[in-house]
Amino acid sequence: MRVLSGIQPTGRFHWGNYFGAIQQYIALQGNEQSFYFIADLHALTTVRDPEELKQNVADAALDLLALGLDPKLATLFRQSDVPEVTELMWLLMTVTQFSLLEKCTSYKDKVAKGIAADAGLFTYPVLMAADILLYDTDVVPVGADQIQHLEVTRDIAQRFNHTYGADSIHLPTARVLTVGAKVPGTDGEKMSKSYGNTIEIFESEKSMRKKIMSIKTDSLPMEAAKDPETCSVFALYQLFAQPEQQAALATRYRAGGMGYGDAKQAVFDAALSYFQAARIRRTELVADPGSVEAILQAGAKRARTKAQEVLRRVRKACGLGASVMSIS
Ligand code: ADP
Ligand code: TRP
Repeated sequence: MRVLSGIQPTGRFHWGNYFGAIQQYIALQGNEQSFYFIADLHALTTVRDPEELKQNVADAALDLLALGLDPKLATLFRQSDVPEVTELMWLLMTVTQFSLLEKCTSYKDKVAKGIAADAGLFTYPVLMAADILLYDTDVVPVGADQIQHLEVTRDIAQRFNHTYGADSIHLPTARVLTVGAKVPGTDGEKMSKSYGNTIEIFESEKSMRKKIMSIKTDSLPMEAAKDPETCSVFALYQLFAQPEQQAALATRYRAGGMGYGDAKQAVFDAALSYFQAARIRRTELVADPGSVEAILQAGAKRARTKAQEVLRRVRKACGLGASVMSIS
């Protein structure tokens, strides 16, 4: 059973990324063969500053390792270190219907927002399909927002197999990540880089505190009884606290006499203690950048071995490469 997922290095990872994705990648690394990569080729569709991209990739690797991704259990690599992926992408594009890509919301939404659509953005799902199919992946853990891309991947794979033979490409299935399905941001909407409402995992304490204190709440006075179920501060507290701590805070909400400032302070303390070990690990890793690069290189080497095996099979299926020709 091979598990694979990718995460784009388009900025620093936030609590939504952690509880919605990273935490679950890490949970899956122990009992399955797992491949995780930093999707730098995909990030090129939005990050156009080379220095910024490099920094984002380095930070992504540091964050993932500090949070517990274990290179002894999982294969961690940079997408662009496996150039086979772009060749497979081309082979897949030759069987991908234009209309299939036109339906993808990732593309439609960006176009609707007035973001200029280049071919990279349009064909983004084909690169994602190549990411997945290049390793004979069985299961792809992804957030609900990526399900459509998984369907596109299966559609492309089926079309390829229909054209070139049933066993050319191995079909994956999606595993939808549901824990912490929607982490709210400081404005109460879904936490997302694009909404500017994020709290980063490795934010400085000062800036983290400031952001937590700015979380939007209703304007009930201190004495009033409050509803934990509808409060983003409480929703965030639940991510970090044990059930009995959650119950205790819920009781204080309902009793009245507690201001939101106290609840925010509780979130700050809980988050700090939750990520404390990871913060320490990250500081150690930062001091030893060579070790991080070595992990990525070793990961790429392992990934390429599998990638080359699959690509050889796929090339052969479409009649590419050297063969014994009869020249008359
Ligand atoms: P952003 O919305 O900040 O650009 P991405 O789209 O790069 O984040 O998300 C990467 C992964 O993190 C996705 O798999 C997504 O499901 C998950 N994720 C992002 N934001 C949240 C959130 N607020 N709640 C739960 N999961 C999230
Ligand atoms: N598109 C995914 C996202 O934005 C990242 C990604 C790229 C990915 N290639 C992948 C996820 C392959 C799973 C499998 O979150």
